[in-house]
Amino acid sequence: MTIRKGIILAGGTGSRLFPITGAVSKQLMPIYDKPMIYFPLSVLMLTGIREIAIITTPEDQPQFRRLLKDGSDWGLSLTYIEQPSPDGLAQAYLLAEHFLDGAPSAMVLGDNIFFGHGLPELLADADAQAGGGTVFGYRVVDPERYGVVAMDKSGAVTDIIEKPAVPPSNYAVTGLYFLDGSAPERARSITPSARGELEITSLLQSYLSDGTLRVQQMGRGYAWLDTGTHGSLLDAGNFVRTLQSRQGLQAGCPEEIAFEQGWIDTAALRALASRHSKTDYGTYLTRLADGA
Ligand code: DAU
Repeated sequence: MTIRKGIILAGGTGSRLFPITGAVSKQLMPIYDKPMIYFPLSVLMLTGIREIAIITTPEDQPQFRRLLKDGSDWGLSLTYIEQPSPDGLAQAYLLAEHFLDGAPSAMVLGDNIFFGHGLPELLADADAQAGGGTVFGYRVVDPERYGVVAMDKSGAVTDIIEKPAVPPSNYAVTGLYFLDGSAPERARSITPSARGELEITSLLQSYLSDGTLRVQQMGRGYAWLDTGTHGSLLDAGNFVRTLQSRQGLQAGCPEEIAFEQGWIDTAALRALASRHSKTDYGTYLTRLADGA
């Protein structure tokens, strides 16, 4: 089986978070003690994916490069791709076609934060599917803000609709998409929606009509956090702070995942820790390296 590659879609104007995103990308905003992109990156790393493309606006790319470099510090290989204008989520597969080179992929939106016991198993299960696609349905109170799953009486998925005025269910499709190698080819045949975007839901419909889309439930034990408004961004930061200070464990820590995956050794982890020596983050990494 071809090894799955990762995509983080981190473009867009961030206009719903103005003025804080006036000069800095939304996906670099702090979630308490770390940049937002650490969280989606951690999801791909937990899946075991090491070859990852980061899609950003041309203006923001230098800041992402400055933060994440070529990924080798964490045992990753990062590629940077520009998206000149936010023409839709499905466009990511066209922009990344060369990078993917026929491989299956896991794409995560750079502003999506997932947390939950059992997440690695859920990811491993999606990764193990050789063909078709897997997406995750999550119950929300405001489905009209998302791609929404429509189901028949037996619970079988019949449609996925982008921001429906009258949502057919409370199940939103999260911003995490495991698709097989045919995604770029399928994306090529999509036409822009009324709002002028290549919609991810159109791409998913193509799999759905072939009978090859799995919609996996992400149950109530998982947190899928919103970062779309100033309030929800702060709430996400507070959630992470509460969790971390109660448990003494980090959420969304790429160094830890790289170490646990065996992609970096103790000496490398110690060197990374020394770069953060003035923070609790650094103390945490040192403790990990000490095996404590
Ligand atoms: O978060 C999950 C939802 O994400 C899904 O349920 C929807 O089906 C999907 O369309 C998307 O909805 P949003 O309303 O959140 O999409 P938005 O336009 O805000 O874009 C999501 C992120 O992707 C955002 O951080 C900006 C980035 N983006 C967006 C577009 C349209 C890009 O990098 N490039 C783009 O072309």
